[in-house]
Amino acid sequence: MSAVETVTQVSQTLSALNLRGGDQEQKTEPYPYANLLPHFSPEQYPPLTPFKHEDPGFRALKHADPHAFLKNATNVVELTPNLGTEVHGVNLAALDGEGRDQLALEVARRGLMVFRGQHEFIDRGPDSYLEWGRHFGRLHIHPTSGHPKDYPQVHLVYKDAKSSYNFEREDSITSTVWHSDVSYELQPPGLTTFFLLSQPTTGGDTLFTSQISTLKKLSPSFVAFLRTLSAVHSGVEQAQFSRSGKRGGIVRREPVEHVHPLVRRHPVTGEEALYVNRQFTTRIVGLKREESETILKFLYDHVDKSADLQARVKWQPGTVVLWDNRVTAHSAIVDYGKSNERRHGARITPQAERPIPALEGLELPSL
Ligand SMILES: [Fe+2]
Repeated sequence: MSAVETVTQVSQTLSALNLRGGDQEQKTEPYPYANLLPHFSPEQYPPLTPFKHEDPGFRALKHADPHAFLKNATNVVELTPNLGTEVHGVNLAALDGEGRDQLALEVARRGLMVFRGQHEFIDRGPDSYLEWGRHFGRLHIHPTSGHPKDYPQVHLVYKDAKSSYNFEREDSITSTVWHSDVSYELQPPGLTTFFLLSQPTTGGDTLFTSQISTLKKLSPSFVAFLRTLSAVHSGVEQAQFSRSGKRGGIVRREPVEHVHPLVRRHPVTGEEALYVNRQFTTRIVGLKREESETILKFLYDHVDKSADLQARVKWQPGTVVLWDNRVTAHSAIVDYGKSNERRHGARITPQAERPIPALEGLELPSL
C-alpha cells in the first residue's frame, strides 16, 4: 500500500468514527443550525425603559405541589448540596404555564438546573425560544453580541476555527471571569436559559457558583456592613471591547452604568445574595478608592477560590441549563481553543426586577 493510500484509508476510518476535527466537519457537512449563526445587525436601539416585573415563582408558591413539573423525571440528582440539580426525563418543551412557573421557583431555590435530553426544545427554533422566554419576563436584547438574523433577543456565544464572538480577555492568564450577566442594566436578568447547538469534543464546560453561599461564608458583622453598601456596575468596558473591532464590532445601544446593592434579596425566596462581579462591578459608592478596591478584591478572590460552593456543568448534546442570574455567578472555561472545533451557544435572557437591597428601604446613592 502506498503512502497516499494509507493516508486515505486512515482518513476514511476517522471519518467513519466521526473523529475528525470540528473545522474539517464545518467545511464538508452542512451545519444544521446555520440559521442560528451570529449576525451583527447595524441597527441602533434606544435606552431600555423600566418595566414592572412579575416573577412567575410567586405563582408557583400558591400551587399545591410546586414540584409537580418533575413528576415524569426518571432521575433527579443534586449536583452539590447547595447549588444545582440535574434532571433526566422531563421534556421542557412540554411544560405548560404552571410547569414553567414551578420551574422558575425551583431554579430560584437551587440556583442552577441542568436538563438532559432536550433535543425537542432546542430544535423548535428561535420563535419557540422567544415564546419560552417571555413567560419569565421581558426579553433582554444584548447591546453588543451576535444574534440569529431577525432574532436580536437570542444572545449567542460562538467560537470556531476561524472566528470568536465571545467576550474574552486575551491578555489574562485565565479565561475564568466570574460574572452575573449584564448586571449593568437597571433590571438585570433573572431566570436564564442557555444551551449549546454545537460543542467541542471535550472542554468548554461552564462553572457556576452560589452567591447565597458565598455570602453565608462571611462573618455576620462583615455581612452587616456589606448590606449598607452599593456598587456601580458598568457596561462601558464591554462596549469598548466591541468598538475595538472584536466580537463583531457592533454597539447597538449605548453602554449604561447603574448602582446596585452589594447584597440583594431574592423577591420570591427572600434569600440574600452577594451581588458584585469582576466583569462589571467597578467601585463601591461612597468609599475611598483604596477601601473600595480592597473590599472588591477580597470578595472576588473569595468567589474565585470557593470551589466548595461551585458546580461545573459538562455539556452533552441536548443539554439545557437554567440559572437564576440574581443569586448565582458563572464563568465560561475556554480550554478548547486549540481544537478548532465549533462551540455555539444560545441564551434566552428575561429581565427581572431592579435588585432589591437586603435592607428593605435602603436608599441607594446615585453614581
Ligand atoms: Fe455569562
